[in-house]
Amino acid sequence: MPSQPPTKLLILVGTVTSTAEYVAQAIELDSSDLIERIEVRMMDGLDPSVFDEDALYVICSSTYGTGDVPDNAQAFYASLESQPRFLGHVRYGLIALGDSLQYPQTFANGGRRFDERLRDLGAVRIGEPLILDASSDDDPEAVGAAWCRQWLTQALAVSDPA
Ligand SMILES: Cc1cc2nc3c(=O)[nH]c(=O)nc-3n(C[C@H](O)[C@H](O)[C@H](O)COP(=O)(O)O)c2cc1C
Repeated sequence: MPSQPPTKLLILVGTVTSTAEYVAQAIELDSSDLIERIEVRMMDGLDPSVFDEDALYVICSSTYGTGDVPDNAQAFYASLESQPRFLGHVRYGLIALGDSLQYPQTFANGGRRFDERLRDLGAVRIGEPLILDASSDDDPEAVGAAWCRQWLTQALAVSDPA
């Protein structure tokens, strides 16, 4: 029996000053017609079991320190190494936030780190990452919402067995 494409989008948010959270909330509002359910979940307290759901995932993370994931994402990020599990069933998109002028050497590395770790565990990224640069004039919420509409259409088509 072929399985159905997921009916839920789960957006996992790593943030300090809430930009990534606002982007996720904009997506939640803007893409509600494309999928049955969208949930925004902060990364605080998460572990790899968050990937047990039958959902599409978007990792939406900013960057701190010297190219690190934000504080609220540290434990989750570490758990992907300390409690590794095969994530071959996981399909995800990536939104990586950073600042190219202030931090050119480590630009948007927080999100890229998640990308590398998830790939190492067998998860499959759909589409190209969205990189949101705090040094650009773009409105991150508008850009994120527009990106996600296209990404969701692609992700649902890829996940549809028909
Ligand atoms: C103390 C500090 C360290 C940062 N380090 C980096 C970094 O290494 N690389 C990067 O691309 N951006 C860095 N940033 C920029 C943030 O990632 C960027 O402003 C982002 O949009 C913040 O998103 P948030 O509000 O969701 O936390 C840093 C910002 C601060 C305040």
